[in-house]
Amino acid sequence: MKIFVTGGAGYIGSHVVFELCDAGHKVTIYDDMSLGRDENIDKRAEFVLGSTLDKQQLAKALNNKNFDAVIHLAAWKAAGESMEKPKKYSENNIVGSMNLLNAVSDAGIKNFVFSSTAAVYGFPEYLPMDEKHPINPANYYGYTKVFVEENLKWYSQLKGLNYVALRYFNAAGYDVKGRITGKENNPNNLLPIIMETACGIRDKVQVYGNDYDTIDGTGVRDYIHVNDLAAAHILALKYLVENKKNLIVNLSTEKGYSVLEAINKAKEITGREIPYQIVGRRDGDPDTVVASFAKANKILNWEAKYSDLETILESMWNIYKDGNR
Ligand SMILES: NC(=O)c1ccc[n+]([C@@H]2O[C@H](COP(=O)([O-])OP(=O)(O)OC[C@H]3O[C@@H](n4cnc5c(N)ncnc54)[C@H](O)[C@@H]3O)[C@@H](O)[C@H]2O)c1
Repeated sequence: MKIFVTGGAGYIGSHVVFELCDAGHKVTIYDDMSLGRDENIDKRAEFVLGSTLDKQQLAKALNNKNFDAVIHLAAWKAAGESMEKPKKYSENNIVGSMNLLNAVSDAGIKNFVFSSTAAVYGFPEYLPMDEKHPINPANYYGYTKVFVEENLKWYSQLKGLNYVALRYFNAAGYDVKGRITGKENNPNNLLPIIMETACGIRDKVQVYGNDYDTIDGTGVRDYIHVNDLAAAHILALKYLVENKKNLIVNLSTEKGYSVLEAINKAKEITGREIPYQIVGRRDGDPDTVVASFAKANKILNWEAKYSDLETILESMWNIYKDGNR
């Protein structure tokens, strides 16, 4: 198939593009390189430098190119920042996505895979969370993804678009084959922060609270290896072609790891000291977030293969151990 991938030079996007090329698809990456990394671009893919905020460029890139599907990853993703800078998030995540949806409809493309997030659910009302869990985002970032999911539903009804929305939980790890070596800049997530501490880029890991109702008092989250996320995109495309129907699924493992489990496992794997400091809780952080992947398993025949903590951390240390940013 001929696939157009927005954000294909980013952290998850680059893994998705490698997986698509491995599976024999013809890929065009569309990325403005605001956060993309040159070294992560698969040479087998065509690259177009462009923004979803540029309607003319989008039309030029999509019209008369016979794309079979679009995978839309381009977005900002820092939940905390979205609460301080809603304009930044509404422009890129909402306006950019609507520009893309309109350009996709104009170009007559019928298949769309969307990078959604666990953040659409907000504070867990029950565990493991499934797709029927109430949608109640606790941050503006999560709301931008709800907005796009809702518009996908409308565009499906009004424009005949078929879509799969993949609600990723905490993306982690790097390509298990070691092909992706460009690290994320200024990571906000626990595991890259642990890695940066192990290789001396940071002095310590801040642990936000150790009095939660979990095995060791620190927060428990559902981590999912990027190679597992990437594999789900291939299955989503297959689903769209075979079923011509919409689907919304969690990509998760239902198994959580605590902050201290992650730090201790990372010590073991890296052989380095990983100093940490317990600080106060952050507002709105739940004890535990884990989600069911039963729907993705049943409908897409998907399950995580690389998402145990050891494989995730080993694949990260592989690229962090050189100590460079
Ligand atoms: N990383 C996670 O844990 C996680 C979890 C849930 C959902 N997601 C979603 O997955 C997607 C990819 O996340 P990521 O972790 O790879 O982030 P990332 O920042 O590494 O990648 C985003 C890519 O999109 C590009 N981009 C941003 N705005 C653009 C625009 N307007 N036009 C063209 N390109 C643009 C950036 O240059 C970058 O290459 C995002 O939509 C994010 O919301 C990520």
